[in-house]
Amino acid sequence: MPTILITGAASGIGRATAVLFASRGWQCVLVDRNAEALAALLPTLPTSEGRTHLSRELDLTNPADIQVLSDLALSLDAIINNAGMSDTSGLSLVDQDSTQFERLLALNLQAPACVVEALAAQLVPGARVVNVASGAGLHAIPLRGAYSATKAGLIAQTRVLAKVRPDLCVSVLCPGFVRTELVAELIAIGRLNPADAVAKIPLGRMAEPQELAEALFFLASAGAGPLSGERISFDGGSSVFGGSKAFLPATHATMPFDMAVSFQLTACPDKAWETALNSGQTGEDKAGYAATIDFSALAAKEGQVLQAVHQAAVRYGKENGAGSSLTLLLPAGDQDETSWPNSGDLAAARMLVATLACELGPQAMRINAIEADANVQPDILAPLLQFAGGAKAQFLTGQTIRARSSSGLSNI
Ligand code: NAI
Repeated sequence: MPTILITGAASGIGRATAVLFASRGWQCVLVDRNAEALAALLPTLPTSEGRTHLSRELDLTNPADIQVLSDLALSLDAIINNAGMSDTSGLSLVDQDSTQFERLLALNLQAPACVVEALAAQLVPGARVVNVASGAGLHAIPLRGAYSATKAGLIAQTRVLAKVRPDLCVSVLCPGFVRTELVAELIAIGRLNPADAVAKIPLGRMAEPQELAEALFFLASAGAGPLSGERISFDGGSSVFGGSKAFLPATHATMPFDMAVSFQLTACPDKAWETALNSGQTGEDKAGYAATIDFSALAAKEGQVLQAVHQAAVRYGKENGAGSSLTLLLPAGDQDETSWPNSGDLAAARMLVATLACELGPQAMRINAIEADANVQPDILAPLLQFAGGAKAQFLTGQTIRARSSSGLSNI
């Protein structure tokens, strides 16, 4: 039975995540400063194998409080650093004193590192560490104090942690707009217009907390092994959108997240991919969520990846409709400097993926890419492809994710 520690578990995304992990047989250690909400949540979580869930009430802005976690004496398979807060004072940065500024810094940027350090001796080899940043870490949001700055710092810190701890599997999730209770209430009382909220989201809707929980479940699973310091923006495409025309609210209903996936493989180099992708699936479900995995760009001639992506998208667009996805395999990154005139090819391909996501989003069609080494084994990459292409990742679009060719260490 794997064990996970989740911070900020008493509310919103953290609570949905705790419920999901517990329902899938994990032992959860819930950390939050809200003792009352923790006490209400803990007994509602399903237990497995007679092992009870634990909770720790502590203030994560206080490093001394965080140190008590070192006494847990557990074997931890994963940590999710989810607790975070925004600045609601409405003051501009130049009008802020250091108190609120420091509090945000302590919670959003310093606490995740402190938690990992306090728990270092309890992490199993290959343990997953998932930090929850925000789309705000990629774009400056005015009048939110140090929120964007601290989340940008967390994204960068995650990359460095992955380098210094290659024995772990480290990633950072950047959620877009999530329909937490707070957001739903603001809409209900007319303080937030859903049309304004989704105007910059190609998929035309906000995420449900359960979708973020599913993303975190994948990132904390052994299948996330090929990720090392990667940022996953789970935001309906908002982080890649740079246009000025407002998106309309989605007209297509979201498909059930637990829906079976029906994979369509194009230019597949080896039958082993088909076997790996369909493993864990309950039979051939032709009516499942339609996920095209296109390998054609891997065989593209030098400097021709951009065109291969375009052709793959044309094929996908002709053969698919709402509630489907295209996931492209792209050759891994570093260009040979002797052929520098072609060195813009991969960046162009990534931006084409993003542009396609903006164009196809309103039709509930998603496109993402995975950059992988040519020698990567299907078994290593299949879980990532299953997640990115499947119904659980219906809010993931426009992203290019770099995957290493080993799975890291894992005992799950
Ligand atoms: P939330 O406010 O519903 O939950 C945050 C939890 O963290 C609460 O249970 C709170 O008690 C706990 N917490 C806050 N300060 C703490 C402290 N000093 N010590 C211990 N616990 C503390 O937030 P939500 O919306 O679920 O967000 C979770 C994470 O996702 C945050 O890091 C947030 O920045 C990020 N995020 C959320 C988005 C959204 O639309 N809800 C969008 C992008 C990022």
